[in-house]
Amino acid sequence: MEVNEVLQITDVLDTNIEHAYDTVARALQATDWPRFLITEKEEIRIPKKAGRVLDVSREEIQARYLSREQLLNDPPAGFHLIHHPMINHKLTLARSRETGEAEFERLINEISLALSVYATEDLEEEPVQIATPICGAVGTQIAGMKPTIVPIWRAGEGMKPGIRSWLTNSRVGNVGLYRNHKTLLPIIYYAKMLRGLKKIAYGDVKKRAAYVCDPMLATGVSAVATIEILKSFGYRKIKFISILSVPQGVNAILMAHPDIEIYTAALDVGLDERGYIVPGLGDAGKRLNGTDWDDEEFDWEEWDALVEYVDGPVES
Ligand code: URA
Repeated sequence: MEVNEVLQITDVLDTNIEHAYDTVARALQATDWPRFLITEKEEIRIPKKAGRVLDVSREEIQARYLSREQLLNDPPAGFHLIHHPMINHKLTLARSRETGEAEFERLINEISLALSVYATEDLEEEPVQIATPICGAVGTQIAGMKPTIVPIWRAGEGMKPGIRSWLTNSRVGNVGLYRNHKTLLPIIYYAKMLRGLKKIAYGDVKKRAAYVCDPMLATGVSAVATIEILKSFGYRKIKFISILSVPQGVNAILMAHPDIEIYTAALDVGLDERGYIVPGLGDAGKRLNGTDWDDEEFDWEEWDALVEYVDGPVES
């Protein structure tokens, strides 16, 4: 039985086809790219605003939109909805409002580890000679460059330990972004990949696998923008791992980045009017960090004044 079916769900905005174009277009036009990575010393030429304009028409995006039923019954090759009894069990506990912070964090890590097992099935191996206490033997080891885990701040941080305890040879890059509440464009305030940027920008990063993680694939704006950043750094083998997803976010990634694979433990019904996943698990960042401010209490005027002071006027 599906968890969604046993709940009385009202109030789900089926914001799908109408908003699909705007979501993808906005995510690709992300502004304020990571200036501080462009240093003379490193001679990196990453454009200050590397945002890409969507070159697919609104009609085409709408025609290609996959409903929840299609994603469940006839999933495209890049969408992996992982079914495993233990993952489902842990996910149900994580969804419950009765679950406290420490247990929630542990569950997110365990589910993340489990999803990363599936997401890394295609890692390349090479033979290696070892000696067991009994005799010589040939085993295998992971070949090639160390993979990069890229948590999207801040909730993505909650998945890092779980994925990293599976991908023990990984490195970590970090991306922080938030959405400007007037323009709805994602603002990238932090993006740091690895040391040796010159090598990364021009060299072998193409061969390095990257695993972007965010527990909640909701509108898809952050995911699409983050994948775009990684591509601008030269990454080509990118996968996206989320605990929960909804059709809006899955479609956004599939349309903006058809070459990316998505791994998720559940495809929920949709988003409510505040952008929360329904039935979801609430605000993952809040639950992971034990913080309790929400947007209603946030002083956006003060925030705008600060942003304008630092960056100049924001167009609405
Ligand atoms: N981010 C969250 O933390 N929760 C949601 O439901 C959607 C986005």
